[in-house]
Amino acid sequence: MAVMNYKGGVGKTTITANLGAVAASRGFRVLLIDLDPQTNLTFSFFSVDEWQDRLKDNYTIRQWYDAEVPGRDSSLADLVTTPERVNKVLKNTDGKLDLISSHLGLIDIDLELAARLGGSTTLDGSKRKFLDLHSCLRHALEDSRFSGYDLTLIDCAPNFGLVTKTAIAASEKILVPAKADYLSTLGLDYLAGNCDTLVQQFNAYVDHKRDNGNYRPIEPSILGVVFTMVQIYSQRVTAAQHSYIEQVRLNSQVPVLNSTVRNSSHFGDSGENGVPAMLRAAGKDDVVREFDQLADEVLGALALSPGGSR
Ligand SMILES: Nc1ncnc2c1ncn2[C@@H]1O[C@H](COP(=O)(O)OP(=O)(O)OP(=O)(O)O)[C@@H](O)[C@H]1O
Ligand SMILES: [Mg+2]
Repeated sequence: MAVMNYKGGVGKTTITANLGAVAASRGFRVLLIDLDPQTNLTFSFFSVDEWQDRLKDNYTIRQWYDAEVPGRDSSLADLVTTPERVNKVLKNTDGKLDLISSHLGLIDIDLELAARLGGSTTLDGSKRKFLDLHSCLRHALEDSRFSGYDLTLIDCAPNFGLVTKTAIAASEKILVPAKADYLSTLGLDYLAGNCDTLVQQFNAYVDHKRDNGNYRPIEPSILGVVFTMVQIYSQRVTAAQHSYIEQVRLNSQVPVLNSTVRNSSHFGDSGENGVPAMLRAAGKDDVVREFDQLADEVLGALALSPGGSR
């Protein structure tokens, strides 16, 4: 599942890290993939020193995307790492949490890949290039070494660049964190429209006869919008935010999840600990309860159970 929204700072990375960690604490084997050159998800689990010393040169997604067609020269499964601190907290569960790290240099590669889309001189050639590039992550995740994961969450950058599109093409579902304000809610139908356009274009290019079944149509759909950083006053969502949420629920084509995540100081020091806030906070806290509900709702909608892949 991809976690995406082109709006920045709406809680994508926080949701990815904490949802992954909560699922792992329930016994799920979770793989997180950081596709954002800002590298925030990576630094939610590894310190900058750990990343510099152990990951930067040989274990980031940058090197994998950096090929004529990503993955042609290297294997995605070789980039999987197991962050120690969070897995120590998970040691009494059946779950585990692995991560493929990102790299600031991914930003240049994203642009180069997009430029390559225009490189073919024939229509067939450009269609094939389009399909090759857009389906690279999907193909890579079909590697049998990924079959042991119950849940894969892909944290996207706040854009709709080629790397983000590879995440959408690789996903069955898309989770869209959003803030409950005017501009954020305006963008949701636009986002859904762009996802639809990508799916239609990809599937229109898939030609079973010509490609011997090498490419299959993609069917990602939006699981829902989860409103984050919601302001609570007297145990209720403030009136203004409530009205934005209801507007989206009634007027937008994108589904809205019942769960919301409140604004909470627990998320302040996301990067420093290596263990997502929801595994550190006390069980009775309101935001922990909300996150549990979100995990119930998302995992239920995905029809996943821990150990499903085993
Ligand atoms: N529910 C919340 N309550 C309070 N602060 C939050 C909450 N969720 C996220 N934050 C904080 O808001 C900031 C942005 O969150 P986050 O990095 O998850 O957003 P993002 O959508 O991934 O951003 P970007 O688009 O830059 O990747 C971070 O400092 C994070 O700690
Ligand atoms: Mg982020």
